[in-house]
Amino acid sequence: MEEAAGSLPPLFFGTFQLRGEEASRATQQAMELGYRAIDTASIYRNEEDIAMGLAASGVRREDVFITSKLAPNEQGYSKAMSALTSSLQRLNTSYLDLYLIHWPGAAKTPLESPANKRLRLESWQALEDALKLGMIRRAGVSNFCVRHLQELLACSELVPCVNQVELHPACFQEELLRFCEAHKVQVQAYSPLGSPAGVQSLLSNADVLRASKEEGVSAAQVLIRWAMQTCGSAVARSSNEQRLAENLETTQVFEHDESTDTQGNRLVTKYCWDPSGVA
Ligand SMILES: NC(=O)c1ccc[n+]([C@@H]2O[C@H](COP(=O)([O-])OP(=O)(O)OC[C@H]3O[C@@H](n4cnc5c(N)ncnc54)[C@H](OP(=O)(O)O)[C@@H]3O)[C@@H](O)[C@H]2O)c1
Repeated sequence: MEEAAGSLPPLFFGTFQLRGEEASRATQQAMELGYRAIDTASIYRNEEDIAMGLAASGVRREDVFITSKLAPNEQGYSKAMSALTSSLQRLNTSYLDLYLIHWPGAAKTPLESPANKRLRLESWQALEDALKLGMIRRAGVSNFCVRHLQELLACSELVPCVNQVELHPACFQEELLRFCEAHKVQVQAYSPLGSPAGVQSLLSNADVLRASKEEGVSAAQVLIRWAMQTCGSAVARSSNEQRLAENLETTQVFEHDESTDTQGNRLVTKYCWDPSGVA
């Protein structure tokens, strides 16, 4: 099977819920601090703002890894092709480093409908063609369960480079991690801090606080490091310059990888969306 592989940068600047001037300012700050990977999506409605922030930072396009995502209302071959073209225009770029199918389901389609599978396979065909056309450098998926991946692998020669999913100590998706490792699909952790809904709970978790004390680093740094150690790449978001810097520092501060391992925890609490019901 053909692989759309290539390793990912360890930490991405996440941009969910950042819009307008705030998104441009945070992007510029992230670039000036040293981030070189950005995660956006057409449903975040901030691709133009990110392009403005990137331009203002003076960092060259070719020095930044940009991910965007195909929205649930853009599923299907022709819609996917035109959605990608629009994302490229909004981001003011001729290619994406990574393009993901954001969600296994299609908008306005009942969860149990077989149309979900038909449309996402059509979308995947569009991503395969976009790769050949040079519009994207890597093709991947997001929020895919093992079942969704099995179906995709059965129908396509192209292995998704990435499955971006919610992953943090309260949401340790062991079966999915094993499946992805066996099939050479890199898992990327989103919401490593628990997203806004779970951040306070995770930052005050006893294991996290113990690791934080032992290492002399912040609780947020423990969580981001946990995600990077568990799957190799994480997407964390802050709109605050100091916290952006704190999060980026995680890529440098730890001397002993094992010391922050909190993998004993096998709870699965999803603070974002749950794709398990999508047919
Ligand atoms: N593929 C998908 O379906 C999907 C779903 C969700 C997220 N994502 C991607 O993953 C990114 C990250 O996920 P997320 O935004 O849900 O959540 P997250 O990064 O886990 O957490 C963000 C929350 O943590 C706070 N925070 C950030 N750094 C902190 C620090 N050092 N100390 C204390 N609090 C801190 C932020 O507040 P402040 O802004 O005030 O710092 C915000 O409330 C998203 O932005 C998006 O790019 C993808």
